[in-house]
Amino acid sequence: MCSIIGYKGQLIVAPLLVDSLKRMEYRGYDSVGIATINNGKILVKKGVGKVLDVNRRLDLSNMGGHAGIGHTRWATHGSITEKNAHPHYCCTDSMAIVHNGIIENHRVLMKELIDLGHVFKSDTDSEVIAHLLERYYAEQKNIKSSMIKTCKRLKGDYAFVAALEDGTICGSRCNEPLMIGSVDTGFFISSDILGFIRYTDKAIFLENRDIVVIDSKTLQIYDPDGNPVNRSLTQVAWELAAIDKGKYSHYTLKEIHEQPFIVEKVGVQNLDKIEEFCNILRNSKTVFLTGSGTSYHCALIAKHILSNFAKIHAETMISSEFQYTLSGIDNTSVLLAFSQSGETADVLQAVNAAKRMGAKVLSIVNVPTSSLARISDSFLTIECGPEIGVAATKSFTAQLSLTYMIVDELCNGYLGFKINRQILVDALQEALAAENEIHGIAEKLRDARDIYVLGRSIHYPIALEGALKIKELSYIHAEGIAAGELKHGPLALIDVNSYVIIVNPNDTTSDNNIASAHEIKARGATIIGISNKPDEVYDIFIKIPFIKCNIIYPIIEVLPLQILAYYLSLVKNVDPDYPRNLAKSVTVR
Ligand code: M6R
Repeated sequence: MCSIIGYKGQLIVAPLLVDSLKRMEYRGYDSVGIATINNGKILVKKGVGKVLDVNRRLDLSNMGGHAGIGHTRWATHGSITEKNAHPHYCCTDSMAIVHNGIIENHRVLMKELIDLGHVFKSDTDSEVIAHLLERYYAEQKNIKSSMIKTCKRLKGDYAFVAALEDGTICGSRCNEPLMIGSVDTGFFISSDILGFIRYTDKAIFLENRDIVVIDSKTLQIYDPDGNPVNRSLTQVAWELAAIDKGKYSHYTLKEIHEQPFIVEKVGVQNLDKIEEFCNILRNSKTVFLTGSGTSYHCALIAKHILSNFAKIHAETMISSEFQYTLSGIDNTSVLLAFSQSGETADVLQAVNAAKRMGAKVLSIVNVPTSSLARISDSFLTIECGPEIGVAATKSFTAQLSLTYMIVDELCNGYLGFKINRQILVDALQEALAAENEIHGIAEKLRDARDIYVLGRSIHYPIALEGALKIKELSYIHAEGIAAGELKHGPLALIDVNSYVIIVNPNDTTSDNNIASAHEIKARGATIIGISNKPDEVYDIFIKIPFIKCNIIYPIIEVLPLQILAYYLSLVKNVDPDYPRNLAKSVTVR
């Protein structure tokens, strides 16, 4: 949601903070700010916009000091304004804080603090942390005990870092990520490894409610009662440092193009762990599958192939709804959670609920050090590298591929994923070659008001995913519909201004889809077919390569939809990497 960074050490802090914030900007990009401590004074600069723009305007990199904190915001409480941008000062400007998450009891705390004479300058829930710390620090001038008292008062999920005018940096977390990067010159404290991976691969992952204090040259971690605790140093993957756009104009386009290479290698290093997954799945009575957004669409396909081919009883539940439908989950169940980030609050809530019911938890994540991976009984990684574009693209095809691999293993190769992997990789390359043609189609759809995406059976989740990509990247209203449901209502929406995309590779669902296409065409809509087989009903045809093993088609047919959504964003003048109102990692519920 928001990104947090702090550093204390020998280096000039401001350029480090700006660089780190650029790397973590995908977490939130409404506004930016940094605070540095220079000669016993805290200086704050902040503004609305993305890191590059605000840095250009305010020259953030050019602030003195060897300790400081920084933040990029995804607004939850309070509009997107300079006054609501972080860092937030306390009354005396002697400390400043940056925060990610939601302080649920901020109104109560605010009232109490206002009654004590504190003056609030923003509309955020976060500012309350600065004033609470100030209040408790005034009592004993002891930052450790002020942190303990402050954290005990906070309700909700949070990670925050505070900077004090004496140069101390301290922080704590509760259900939001916060980690330390250890460098020869000092320490980073960050909400994401990407905040410091350019400088160090040595990380300490703080546990929930840990309190960390970095003063002069030492770092101390305490439990919520103030007892010192040891947290081990973990070595994280250096490859994460390579996050540039290469020859591409946007991360989203780069990530779309990376897909063949990712699908080629996903899972191959993890055969033992896949076997362990398979054993757990085989021994469960029911497998519940969950995820949010794109990851949920992968869960839908997982259900289809698990139940139809591996003959394992599977149910899907969207993570945000999971807590309302817990009946049937017990110690004979397995919950398989999909999440690129491994930090999605709805997913973590679903997992915790399932654990309380006695279920075993498996997860498929991109970030092996994520909260989800760490609370799972076993996890597999999709290893697609950092996905910076807010729209999930390569993580989806990687999740799908790994899922196919697992199910193929469960049904002794019946799915044909393993033996057809190279054919699939070649087909993905071929599908990417249609990019220019799809760009042309996006031009034609520039003024579309509504786009409907239809699919049946295993292609229905891809219709949902295609519609999600279009709305997220181009702000055009798009809806994924199960093709058979059309005549039960949605057909009423269709007229000469409608565009309908039919995801229709030539399989057992194909004839029914062609019949639906005729019904739509009779109402004047423009039909766009995505298929390996042309048909006269399509006004616009996007050809995908033919492959014999048609159960794998979802991994291919999503590519033209991703490319279309990407080019729709360009023709609509939208930044595809950073769609409005969204953030890559949704760590609030
Ligand atoms: O990190 P996760 O996979 O848990 O994220 C889940 C969703 O927030 C995510 O897939 C979202 O829907 C994407 N922006 C879609 O492109």
